[in-house]
Amino acid sequence: MLLSTKQMLLEAQKNYYAVPAFNIHNMETLQVVVQAAKEMGSPLIIAATPSTVEYAGADYLVAMASAAAQNSQIPIALHLDHHEDVDVIKRDIDTGFSSCMIDASKLPFEENIAKVKEVVSYAHRYDVTVEAELGKLVGIEDNVVVDAAEAIYTDPDSAADFAALTKIDSLAVAIGTAHGLYKGRPKLDFDRLKAIRAKVDIPLVLHGASDVPDELVEKTISMGICKVNIATDLKIPFSNAVKEFFVNNPAESDPRKYMTPGKEAMKKIVVHKINVCKSAGRY
Ligand code: CO
Ligand code: CO
Repeated sequence: MLLSTKQMLLEAQKNYYAVPAFNIHNMETLQVVVQAAKEMGSPLIIAATPSTVEYAGADYLVAMASAAAQNSQIPIALHLDHHEDVDVIKRDIDTGFSSCMIDASKLPFEENIAKVKEVVSYAHRYDVTVEAELGKLVGIEDNVVVDAAEAIYTDPDSAADFAALTKIDSLAVAIGTAHGLYKGRPKLDFDRLKAIRAKVDIPLVLHGASDVPDELVEKTISMGICKVNIATDLKIPFSNAVKEFFVNNPAESDPRKYMTPGKEAMKKIVVHKINVCKSAGRY
């Protein structure tokens, strides 16, 4: 059975590790994250952006994730990542998603709250967890571009009000990470994270963790981040391995042959990220 992220995140928060949320796009990428998490005994959040849901179909994603969760020793959640359309979220909850993120972070504070509350009141009726974001990350997520001038860090006091007023289950914070790849070494605002953690008691989420040095991600986890999102870092090794396969085997046309090196390359990164999250051996 697909679970919400409620228990797995509270458990992680209590024990200073993070649950990895891996963005998948199709059956192969879903199989990789599930296989690695099962082998390592790690809780798992399978994440899908709006364009992934559109590409793969909510019903297919729910069916595949449910198959993965059947007789599983590890808790598995199927999560809507960066969704902005309330009607789409409701539809996908009805289809069987067990967790969601409503990203209204581009809206003014009061409007963000109003939109998040609408999602929370719907989702909680079905025991579906809700993540929301306060502040804005620079970079490109799905089809949304935020440039550096627009990026806003999360204010600790506002974050506490936001969590209390919306009754969300987890909060995505903006502390200097970005979506996509970085130009230099990312500068994370650890003092800000510490202040947010002191004022907000629900699980905190780190977006834009791809391409951030492991020791920085590990530090955020030691300071209370309990969900880490990983997307870009998985896409690159998968596609590179497939490209390399075709360079060496230009006549090959069997997807079972050319997908396999992509899966193997991606799995190595998934294993590495689970180790960074310190979530292995928890189940
Ligand atoms: Co994100
Ligand atoms: Co690393």
